[in-house]
Amino acid sequence: MMDAAPKDALRAAALSVMARAYAPYSHFRVGAALAAAGGRTFTGCNVENASFGATICAERAAVLSAVSQGERSFTSLVIATEGPTPVAPCGICRQVLAEFAPSLEITSCTTAGAEAHWSLDQLLPAPFTSNSFPSS
Ligand code: THU
Repeated sequence: MMDAAPKDALRAAALSVMARAYAPYSHFRVGAALAAAGGRTFTGCNVENASFGATICAERAAVLSAVSQGERSFTSLVIATEGPTPVAPCGICRQVLAEFAPSLEITSCTTAGAEAHWSLDQLLPAPFTSNSFPSS
């Protein structure tokens, strides 16, 4: 389990980056703060597109930011949304997160103060991984 202080900082970072979401179509703003094993935090927000399938979720934006800055090892993720009920990451984000941190600790919080917790292996118990390819 994460201890209280880093989780508070991650929650604050997720809520803060949520304000930068570009969500003119769904009006559903999401922020994500990803804690790397080395201690750094990487954030992301959802970025929608008029071609809806080109939309990037907040969680993937955070992962892409981290990996492009050289970080591939993660310990925890906090997601922030505005609705009353915490949301779990979508299936595509679960798969992308599992590439780097199959047992990632995930917290989802809302501006209303609700919170939910999972580990990624609960949400995606049978990921497709590098071990899924046939050996040559
Ligand atoms: N969204 C995320 O950012 N993360 C998720 O895990 C679920 C969905 C975004 C994508 C889109 O901009 C909006 O929420 C509605 O689906």
